[in-house]
This record gives sequence, structure tokens and C-alpha cells, in this order.
Amino acid sequence: MIKELHCRKNLRIYYRGNYKLRFVKKQLTLLALFISVIASSQQFQNPLYIPDTLMGKNFQLFISDSSHQFIPGVNTSTMGYNGSYMGPILIFEKNATVNISVVNALNEGTTVHWHGMEVEANVDGGPHNIIDDSSSWFPSFKVRDNAATMWYHSHLHKQTQRQVNMGLAGMIIIRDSSSKQLSIPSEYGKDDFPIILQDKTFDSLGQINNDALLGDTFLINGTLSPYLNTPAQNVRFRLLNASIQRIYNIGFEDNRDFQVIATDNGFLESPVKVNRLMIASGERYEIVADFTNDLSDTLALVNYSSEMGYGFLGGIPGGDVYPSPLNGVDKDLMKLRITAPTANKVDSISTVLTTHVIPSMSSVSRERYKKLGGKAQGGNIIWNINNTSFSMSVINDTVISGSTEIWEIRNSTHFVHPFHIHSGHFFLIENDSMPPTVIESGKKDVILVRPNTTVKFIMEFPDFHDAQIPYMYHCHMLDHEDGGMMAQFIIVDSSYLMSTRFPEANESINVWPNPVDGFVRFEIELADAKWQIHDLKGRLITKGDCRNGVNQIETTKLFSGSYILSISTDKGTSRTRFIKI
Ligand code: C2O
Ligand code: CU
Repeated sequence: MIKELHCRKNLRIYYRGNYKLRFVKKQLTLLALFISVIASSQQFQNPLYIPDTLMGKNFQLFISDSSHQFIPGVNTSTMGYNGSYMGPILIFEKNATVNISVVNALNEGTTVHWHGMEVEANVDGGPHNIIDDSSSWFPSFKVRDNAATMWYHSHLHKQTQRQVNMGLAGMIIIRDSSSKQLSIPSEYGKDDFPIILQDKTFDSLGQINNDALLGDTFLINGTLSPYLNTPAQNVRFRLLNASIQRIYNIGFEDNRDFQVIATDNGFLESPVKVNRLMIASGERYEIVADFTNDLSDTLALVNYSSEMGYGFLGGIPGGDVYPSPLNGVDKDLMKLRITAPTANKVDSISTVLTTHVIPSMSSVSRERYKKLGGKAQGGNIIWNINNTSFSMSVINDTVISGSTEIWEIRNSTHFVHPFHIHSGHFFLIENDSMPPTVIESGKKDVILVRPNTTVKFIMEFPDFHDAQIPYMYHCHMLDHEDGGMMAQFIIVDSSYLMSTRFPEANESINVWPNPVDGFVRFEIELADAKWQIHDLKGRLITKGDCRNGVNQIETTKLFSGSYILSISTDKGTSRTRFIKI
């Protein structure tokens, strides 16, 4: 109906000259083609695209604007890594040092974030590691994580939703020696398949609508309405939700059980049998399903979103926050055509997959409280964490390298939010006052926080440090992250804190940015402190009272050079040196 109106409007506007008429005709033909392909694509006739793999130690990613035929004959503008949409599967071996060469041939900046991986801040690919257009980035890091399914994607601040939706995402598979001993399907593309879940809305000309938070069409690995030839045996699916907002509730059409073998950052201790699995944006799960007795059958993988309920994005019929015909209804995602088994089929799945080493409570050095919230403003919601929207120039937290902390995340809104933290993984210890379920107790880097509930996790931070470049934590719904529900922390060496510690109040501070050419900032959690700035000759330049929280001091009137910022209470004084450019 809407599409029809759209055409008529076009006709009225363009029905003036022959040239324009031809243009309209072309548009109409495309539109007709588009509609008929969408209609026939309901038949699940498109073979699921299985991305190429790259492995070894040296990797090359070439990022460019492109055009992709999601619908045969219709060129859709896209972005891709080494191709027209999304990217190759990167296969990393644990303990290897990988060297990646990233060339940005887009007409805009981007970043490449290795989601879930424990890598140093300067190669994490967060919003601070910008790769300008026509330039390159050469991150190199050691693969410290155990076997897992991770992913990579754009993390350019305020552009993440658009760039990921245009195609800047791909899967990472980490392998390690102990997982190779396990009896689980692991032949890529034969009995071990990537399943990258997305939804999108294409406009009447077949172009991607980047404002559609919940799409009206599913894609798996970029394929519309796919089928997969699936061998009649145990098969592993690596599920990744790379959608803007949509949460999927996965099951098979006959409600059969399947086994969950891994969560975000690696194996569960033992497989867990379920017939439904909810997966939020940013999350990964590996599942194994048994098709041994299904030869020649066709079986649908279904999104049972009618069962999700209140507050789950994509779960409320029709309306939701963003309207889509896929919301709140059970719809097939893909058809599995069960074919002859492979030569090396895996008949029984290992019952012990790994052993988790959960950090002990006695090692916890700090607890933090984060509240996910939003404020209505002129018809929009401005998202925040602890009432503050993200700012690139504010460091919200300072974590000591190698330390263990408990984070308590409170969702004070009416929707679920998948909370994600960079730099490693955590173990959930509480979900809405209940102990975690077996699946929730796996290694995670994203946790879905339900409306008006609180989760608590314990996390051992990596033992590297960088006082300059922060890591992010944020909601992984891409519009929320772009919209301010994000904050950042630096991981510092404990000696760094020693030099800026209040002698008795035991409160650590750091200043940023440093060098500075504007506001120099620091954060304290103390009342009644005073700040002073001296030059290196000991002359007092300027002074003032501190506020509890983030303080900022204008430095534009200072001459270039080094200065000492001191923060004093009646308990003592802490000094930090900074440089004015
Ligand atoms: Cu998947 Cu901070 O991101
Ligand atoms: Cu959110």
C-alpha cells in the first residue's frame, strides 16, 4: 500500500518530460522486480551464503563502499570487508600473534573492533582508534582467548548503527588446542556453520533503510530467505546476532531439543539441552542440533518472537518501539534441507567441554554500580549510563590492571538492554536476585538486562595497561550505543595510581586529556577538595574548589608547557603533571 502510494507520487512529480518518464519507468521496473523477488524469496530458495575464511598470522581487510545484489538484479549500496557485504570469517589460533592490515577505502572514517577479544586498548578498535578515509591501520596482537566465536565490526562513534547495517561486520572463530581434542562438529562449512542474524528494511528502490531500527526482512549471512543443505548428523551452528536492536528467540519448527555448547567467549562446561534460545544484539552462542533421523526432510529454523514478551525489542506484535511485521510473531528464518551425512560425522558430543576458572570473591578489589537510563527529549530518548550520556573526552572509570571487580548493572528503563564490556569476559553471579542459569554462567561479554532488574558480574581485567586509550562499555543495541548509552574506562598500572592517590582518603585520580589544549579534566568522589595549578617553578597559576564527580578546568589561558595539578583535602595532597600544548 505504502509502496503503491510512493509510485503514484513519483509519477505525478516526474510525468513531465520523456527523460523523467524513462526514469520513472526504470524505477517502476526495479520496484516490480523487487516486490516479486521479495515475494518469491518467501520460498527459501536462496542458498545460504557461507563466507570465505582467512587464517594464518597475517590478515588483510580492505574496507570499501560497494554494491551488493541481495535481490538478483537490484544493486543495493553497501559497505564490506574484502567484498560487497560483511566480511570473511577470520580464523585465529590461540597464542598466535596476528598482524592485521586494514585499508580504509570508504569515503569516511571507520574503526574495526574485535568484539569479545582480550586485546590491548590501542588495538581494540573502539571509537578512539579511528582509521580515516584513504588511510590504513596495522594492529597486531596476541590471541589470548580460548576457542570461541567472536566478531568484528565498526565502532565509529555515532556511526556504528549505520556502518554495521551497511555491512561492516564479520565473524571471528578462535581455535585452541584443547578444543581440537573435543568430539564436536568442527569442519567449517560442512558440519560447522556461521549463522549471522540480521534484519533490515529495504526501501522501494532496494536500498537499505538505516533508520529502520527493527527491519521487516530477515537476513542470515546477508542472504534473504535462505536454505542450507544440512547433513543428516550432528551439526554445529555459530549464532551471532549482528542486528541493530532485534532480539531473536531461536528454535526449530518441530520444537526439538538442541544443545548449547558455547556462550560469547567460549565453551560451557557441559552441553545444555534446550528448545529455545534467546540471543540479543552482540551475543554469540554455539549450538549443536542432531539431524541424524531427518534425511530428505526440510526443517525450519524459527524466530519464536511471540514468546519473548514485554520489553524485548522485536517481541511486541506490530508496534513495539519501531514497527515491523516481524515483531511478536513466529517466523521462519531459514529452511534446512537435510542431505546425506558427511564422511567425518560426529556421532556423540563430548559431555565435558571445558572447566571454568571463576575469579574468587576474595580477590575482588572494587565494586561499581552502573544504571542504564534514558531521558525523553523532544520525541527522542537520550540514552545514558549513570545519568550521563557518552562523551569521547570523559574517562568514566579507572581500573587497575589485573584486578578483579564486581559490576552491578541496573536497568531503570522499560526495555531490555544488552550490556557489553570491552577488554575481556565476565562471569554472571546474579540476575534479578537469582543465581545465573547454567547457560548464563558461561563466559560472557554481553548480558541482557531485563527492564527494572539488576545483574551482577565478576570480571578479572587483563594485566596490560594504557592510561591514554580507553575501553568502552555500553548497550549493544547499536542506536542506544550511538545515542549515548556508553561510557569508557582506562586500565592502568597500579603504580600509575600510586602517583596520583590521596594519601589517606585512598581516592585515585587521573587527568585527561594529557597533553591538553582546552579543558583538563579529572574525577573525584570526595567533597571539600580544592585544586591548584602551579608551573614548574612553583608559582601558583590558578585555583578553585573541586566538585564531587567530573571536574574540568579551562587551560586556554595557560602558556604552553608543563604544569602541576594538585588536589588537596585536609587529609593530604595529590599531584599530577600535565602538559599544555
Ligand atoms: Cu560489539 Cu563495543 O562492541
Ligand atoms: Cu539499550
